[in-house]
Amino acid sequence: MRALTVKPGTPNSIQLDAVAPPPESDGSVLVRALALGICGTDREIVAGDYGWAPEGQDRLILGHESLGRVEAAPDDCGFAKGDLVAGIVRRPDPVPCPACAAGVWDMCRNGQYTERGIKERNGYGSEYFRVEPDFLLKLDPSLDILGVLMEPTSVVAKAWDHVLRIGDRARAWTPRNALVTGAGPVGLLAAMIGAQRGLEMHVLDRNTEGPKPKLVKALGATFHTSLDGLCPDIVIECTGAPTVILDVMGRTAPDGIVCLAGVSSGGRKLPFDIGDLNRAMVLENRVVFGSVNANRDHYAAAAEALAKADRKWLAGLITRRVPLERWQEALERRDDDIKVVLDFTA
Ligand code: BGC
Repeated sequence: MRALTVKPGTPNSIQLDAVAPPPESDGSVLVRALALGICGTDREIVAGDYGWAPEGQDRLILGHESLGRVEAAPDDCGFAKGDLVAGIVRRPDPVPCPACAAGVWDMCRNGQYTERGIKERNGYGSEYFRVEPDFLLKLDPSLDILGVLMEPTSVVAKAWDHVLRIGDRARAWTPRNALVTGAGPVGLLAAMIGAQRGLEMHVLDRNTEGPKPKLVKALGATFHTSLDGLCPDIVIECTGAPTVILDVMGRTAPDGIVCLAGVSSGGRKLPFDIGDLNRAMVLENRVVFGSVNANRDHYAAAAEALAKADRKWLAGLITRRVPLERWQEALERRDDDIKVVLDFTA
C-alpha cells in the first residue's frame, strides 16, 4: 500500500512510498483511509524540525488528522465494517505516569507518550491503517469527508474544557464573551464551540480578504483586525505569534482566562514588563495556561460538536482537497487556505 513517509530530522525527506500493510500490533480494527488533514505540525516534521521515527526504524508514516471507514473489525469491539471513524493521536506512556494511568494522556507528566504520525508511532497517512478500538471514535455518518476535522476539533474541545474547569474556581463565574485569535482551522473550530456554548464570540485575524471573515460572521461572531476596545472573559490564542500573545495576556477582564493553544517557533525576543503583567494578573485573579493534544473525552466532545455543526459552514473550512498522488500540493501554503486535506479516494 502507499504511505507518505519522512525521515524525521532530515529536511524534505518526504515521499510517497510503498510500505507493508499495517501490522496487527497497531490495533485490531483495520481502517481504509478516506482523508488526511495537513497542519503546521506536519509541515514542521517535513522541514526536519520535529518528529521522531518508531524505535529501530528510519522513517515515520506521517499524518495524525485521520478519517477513514472501518474495513474489518473483531466481533463485539464496538465497530463494524463501514463505520466512519477517526483515530486518536496520542498513546499513554509505558510507565505509566499518574495522568496517563487515569486516561488523561494529553496531560502526560514524563514526556514518554507516543503520538501517531508525530512521535515514535506510525501515523495515519497510509491507504490502510490499524487502530486499537479504545483509540478510535465513530463519527456521525452524515459528516462524510467533514469528519476529517475531528482531530483539530478535539484539540479545541480540550482547550474549552480546561478553560471552563479553571473558571470553576470562581464558583459563580459566568463568562459572557470570548476572543479567539487566529482564524485558521483551529481558531475557527474554537470559535464554533464558543458559539455553540452561547458565548458572544470575537475572532481576530489579519486577513480581511478571502473566506475567513465570512466564516466568522456566519457563526454570529464579530471579526476584528485589532484588539482595541476588547476586554474578553476568555481568550483562546491560536496564532502562536509573540506580539498577539503579549497583547492578549494583558487584556482580559478580572478573573479572565487566556488559553495558549498555538505553538510558537521561538527565537523572537520582545521587550516587556513582567512586573506590570504580574500586577495585573495577581490583582485581578487572571490565568494564562497552555493546552495541547486531547484525551478520549475531548474526542467524544469534538464528535458531538461536529455532529451539530452546520455542514455548509464546516465545508467552508476545507479549502483544498488534494488527491494522494499529488501530495506535494497539499504541503504548499496558498493564500486563502484554511484546511488542506489529502484525499485518499480520488
Ligand atoms: C497535534 C497534537 C499533538 C501536538 C504535539 C499537534 O499538531 O494536534 O495532537 O499533541 O501537535 O505533537
